[in-house]
Amino acid sequence: MKDVAVLVGTGSIGQAIIRRVGAGKHIVLGDLKIDAANAAAKILEDAGFETSTVAVDISSRESILNLVEHAKSFGAVKNVINAAGVSPSQAPVSAILKVDLYGTAVLLEEFGKVIADGGSGVIISSQSGHRLGALTEEQNFQLATSPTEKLLELDFIKSITDTLKAYQYSKRCNVLRVAYEATRWGKRGATINSISPGIIITPLANDELHGPRKDGYLKMIDGSPAKRAGTPDEVGDLAEFLMSSRGKFISGADFLIDGGTTASYWYGDLQYLKKTH
Ligand SMILES: NC(=O)c1ccc[n+]([C@@H]2O[C@H](COP(=O)([O-])OP(=O)(O)OC[C@H]3O[C@@H](n4cnc5c(N)ncnc54)[C@H](O)[C@@H]3O)[C@@H](O)[C@H]2O)c1
Repeated sequence: MKDVAVLVGTGSIGQAIIRRVGAGKHIVLGDLKIDAANAAAKILEDAGFETSTVAVDISSRESILNLVEHAKSFGAVKNVINAAGVSPSQAPVSAILKVDLYGTAVLLEEFGKVIADGGSGVIISSQSGHRLGALTEEQNFQLATSPTEKLLELDFIKSITDTLKAYQYSKRCNVLRVAYEATRWGKRGATINSISPGIIITPLANDELHGPRKDGYLKMIDGSPAKRAGTPDEVGDLAEFLMSSRGKFISGADFLIDGGTTASYWYGDLQYLKKTH
């Protein structure tokens, strides 16, 4: 039996993280698209990692439980990384809420029952969650602690009609849920944190940067303090720190990694985006 590192969502961000924490462990690669998981497995196997793949849809508890059983069969689950998600331009409101909000909450809940002592996890949220104004203390509490099966029935979630809002609430919920779950994961000797990236160059973001909405993207990047987009490796470096022995005192926290874009959105050159984003 080996230590096991689970990655759900095998895109560029997920791969960058697993390369940094997966050496010497059995890596479980889960994705809705098994072809994506298999492609990631080929790259990782050719670089000396041991992997297995499994089709998983995080919007289904049954599918997550299947993933948990698969992971446990290889050994102690030491790391869990969730880099699965759908974006506002990819999916309707219902799918965004089911995958990004509910799915992430169920994943945290179910892996929180099996995570090994000394284990750690990272959830990829988004800067989008930081573009939502303040919620009430009661709304925060409801998003953090409501039973998973009740989350999508909350009035202020049920009333969402636009995909950007659905994404923003989902990503805010990820952060709150991580805070709540840190209290449960801690009882098992494990930590859990979230990372909220800004624009990170992945195949999808690269398409956007060369597509019809290119000008808006470039203006946003130019108005940020860093004046560039981020790379999956930079997110990977942060995740590696959080999941390492040096990160043991960090749990239930969220880390913005956006080149200062959120700061500029609220207080700097990017304030014009408040009208549309
Ligand atoms: N790329 C960015 O600029 C950026 C910025 C902020 C946040 N994020 C977040 O980072 C995460 C990863 O994004 P990425 O850019 O690597 O995108 P990506 O599309 O390359 O990777 C996401 C993966 O999730 C998988 N997936 C989608 N729905 C799923 C489901 N129901 N169950 C299991 N897997 C599913 C997809 O098949 C895909 O392989 C997402 O949560 C995204 O919201 C990305």
